[in-house]
Amino acid sequence: MTLNRRTFAIIAHPDAGKTTLTEKLLMVGGAIHLAGEVKARGAARRARSDWMKIEQQRGISVTSSVMTFERDGIVFNLLDTPGHEDFSEDTYRTLTAVDSAIMVLDAAKGIEPQTLKLFEVCRLRSVPIITFINKVDREGRDPFELMDEVADRLALDVCPMNWPVGMGGEFEGLYDFASGRLSRPEGDSREFLGDVSMHSGVTDPSLADKLSPAACERLAAEAELAQAGYPEFDPAAYRNGDLTPVWFGSALKQFGMPELLAAIAEHAPPPRPQPSDQGEVLPTQADVTGFIFKVQANMDPQHRDRIAFMRLVSGTFRRGMKLTPSALGKPIAVHSPILFFAQDREIADSAEPGDIIGIPNHGTLRVGDTLSEKNDLRFTGLPNFAPEILRRVVLKDPTKTKQLRKALDDLSEEGVIQVFTPEIGANLIVGVVGQLQLDVLISRLEAEYKVEAGLEPSPFDTARWIKGSDTALKDFAQFNRDKLAKDRDGNPVFMAKSVWDVNYQSERHPEVEFSATRER
Ligand code: G4P
Repeated sequence: MTLNRRTFAIIAHPDAGKTTLTEKLLMVGGAIHLAGEVKARGAARRARSDWMKIEQQRGISVTSSVMTFERDGIVFNLLDTPGHEDFSEDTYRTLTAVDSAIMVLDAAKGIEPQTLKLFEVCRLRSVPIITFINKVDREGRDPFELMDEVADRLALDVCPMNWPVGMGGEFEGLYDFASGRLSRPEGDSREFLGDVSMHSGVTDPSLADKLSPAACERLAAEAELAQAGYPEFDPAAYRNGDLTPVWFGSALKQFGMPELLAAIAEHAPPPRPQPSDQGEVLPTQADVTGFIFKVQANMDPQHRDRIAFMRLVSGTFRRGMKLTPSALGKPIAVHSPILFFAQDREIADSAEPGDIIGIPNHGTLRVGDTLSEKNDLRFTGLPNFAPEILRRVVLKDPTKTKQLRKALDDLSEEGVIQVFTPEIGANLIVGVVGQLQLDVLISRLEAEYKVEAGLEPSPFDTARWIKGSDTALKDFAQFNRDKLAKDRDGNPVFMAKSVWDVNYQSERHPEVEFSATRER
């Protein structure tokens, strides 16, 4: 068994450069050969599946996918996370399946709202973060100011690994502290095309052959301050999630790409143990275990296929193997698992811990399911989040009730929405974490299920799962029947008019537990 996997995600506020960075990392990794392929491939995929219309209209990526490539004996599994502000639970769940993340910041903007949200999710799970400050080829903020902002707002130690020699119009190159390598822009496009020189330190006189006198002086002064002002890189602190190494660069102009990939290979953790109800499961454990973090239906509208994405936690998976999904309780044979390469999908004959395999199925596999050979444990920590927007679904054609139910069932299984059935009243209520999910819902209802539906305001603003003894719940229900509903799995849910209402009820009914997340 080898632990040579690096399973990671790139987290970023929209426009910081996640797509460009993904593409350039895949190029450096040898997975694709021409710039533009990630986008081109994206465009072709979108053209094929019209439920992705929203992506096209808004120019955003709604669903996450997996890209696998191998370099120098290391297998990189890059999980794409949707980056829009209105992100869904999909994003959170994808981050449960990675061992580390690259946080991309725009050098002109620093930390933005979405960066912060995604970072918080990583912190919850102690996912180690490498920071990449992008777009140094443009005018940006002072590097010290950016470093300090990361340190202060994220409460992390920061450690500069390289330094930009000027930015924007004054950008003369990147200096790598550990190796003494200077990379410089070339030609009219001012790209990195391989111009590197090695130096013994930032005061090495030979730098004068490569940089303007002003840049030499600036680099020496800034580098001295940077190295004195921040802690040294400590791999253990990074892996603990207490320190983030910071690389400056430009994805567009290809500065800092090989360094970043090398850093992931060298420092990012191999597959980590995963929490379960039987304690931590080590990747070195012999029997095969994994969990489903994403289900995507109708990837190809011609076939009603449904692919469950499983993160392998332990053991060597072999094609045809029998695994038991926790929700099903009996084994299924996995005959055509899919591995996702940057340009293709391939049937996988085997997979190792850290790998993501796609399992085609007809609805047997659900987000949060544990798959195991022995059916003796459940992975924990894959949460459902209390919806922040609740809407009533109203059919334009009332004869389509059956189709609507089926569609809502499918989409809630995928995690696009949550569906609640009120104890009183016939209209189903859908809940989402972000507005975008509602747009996806309406568009997919129409495109895939030929159901025209609209959304109406619901009287509720938020929801909480409730737990307690039978008597406590009965007592609570006596006063709140009109606010009770069941989630898709039949769990009782309190539909609240406001967070204030939740607080009020939890004070009045201390014996009932109100929960904003539910682990599956
Ligand atoms: P995202 O996935 O995080 O949303 O960002 P994306 O890579 O799409 O990049 C957003 C914009 O920033 C793009 O410009 C992209 O070209 C630009 N960009 C990314 N990295 C760099 C960089 O290192 N330097 C500079 N100067 N720009 C960068 P756009 O004009 O919105 O799109 P496009 O027409 O170039 O595709």
